[in-house]
Amino acid sequence: MTSTLIQSTTVGPAAVSGRPAEAGLSASVSESLAAALRRSAQLERRIGEDPRSFRILTGDRPTGELHLGHYFGTLRNRVRLQDAGAELFVVVADYQALTDRDTARALDEHVIGLVTDYLATGIDPGRATIFAHSAVPELNQLLLPFLSLVSTGELGRNPTVKDEIAQLPSGGATPRTPRGAPDGSAIVSGARRQASVSGLMFTYPVHQAADILFCKGNLVPVGQDQLPHLEVTRLVARRFNERYPGAGGPVFPEPDALLSAAPLLLGTDGGKMSKSRGNAVALRATADETARLIRGAKTDAQRRISYDPASRPEVSSLVLLAALCLERDPESVAEQIGDGGAAALKATVTEAVNERFAPLRARRAELAADPGYARQVLRDGSARARTVAVATLEEVRGAMGMRY
Ligand code: TRP
Repeated sequence: MTSTLIQSTTVGPAAVSGRPAEAGLSASVSESLAAALRRSAQLERRIGEDPRSFRILTGDRPTGELHLGHYFGTLRNRVRLQDAGAELFVVVADYQALTDRDTARALDEHVIGLVTDYLATGIDPGRATIFAHSAVPELNQLLLPFLSLVSTGELGRNPTVKDEIAQLPSGGATPRTPRGAPDGSAIVSGARRQASVSGLMFTYPVHQAADILFCKGNLVPVGQDQLPHLEVTRLVARRFNERYPGAGGPVFPEPDALLSAAPLLLGTDGGKMSKSRGNAVALRATADETARLIRGAKTDAQRRISYDPASRPEVSSLVLLAALCLERDPESVAEQIGDGGAAALKATVTEAVNERFAPLRARRAELAADPGYARQVLRDGSARARTVAVATLEEVRGAMGMRY
């Protein structure tokens, strides 16, 4: 497959010479986004030259069905890197699922569904390691030393965590309803919300550092919203290495984020596409479900279709979705639809999605017919991840003087 990723031509000598020295977390998100994009372009070249020098860790919360935004944002990137020869670890972040809901309701179903989505997408359990948080105790133990390396102030400034807290239904640390569900409760102030969220929500970026560092992952393909977490991981690695220099050199790498160049797709309601908001086309959706969802998508009243994300976000997101599926540029797709209006746009999108995803969906249906297989893949992957985690924890204990 040819690279459809970062094609930035803005990589200058400053970016090539390495990242700027930073004492703490990046001052601004846009600054770190620009830096991450430059760095990603550079990384793409290094991956091309030497894929085997990369160990990739990424993953998802098992909170619902993976959708087309996941696919174009990260899933296809994982498969591309795996196929290029990089080593891939994928975490099913089941503990992290408890950050925004207080029950593990339907967890088993979500977990097996997620693993099935991975397999259908092309993640190959013969080469990649798919595992669950909860099955790897040694990974979770890393959380304790890691928590000692970050301040509560640093945790409180994480913009992604702040966003997630703002989206929680009000009512405190243990929301009774899933994220975004209309629970009818009153709006409470940001400060009060923050004071009442669970400790797990507040600290999950540090837990995520353990996900990445337990296997010494050095590359993390993520969407933009995960960049602040990567900063936490890098900070934890740096501080750990400084405070506990291992006998054989630094224990942890400072992993890099690899951003996908695909712009963000919006949900059918014009908001952020989300597993739990019912505004996303699931990977596993049928052709009819896809048609229904796209038919209901928000558009605008102008007949002429154009690609103009700034002033026509909803229409442009649909154009982009068709373009991604067809591997064409969005301007030419818009041009072709011309004066056809929303109806023609939606017909084009539906057909493009259904054609592009037909093979993946057929594969998924076959896999879903034997859920025992996905379960076995997860068990095997978790056992493998555990071997890796045991070795890392042993090294960490050594560096910390805790080998008694
Ligand atoms: N936080 C990610 C999400 O919400 C999931 C995740 C958990 C993850 N651990 C990770 C992503 C480690 C990258 C690396 O989608």
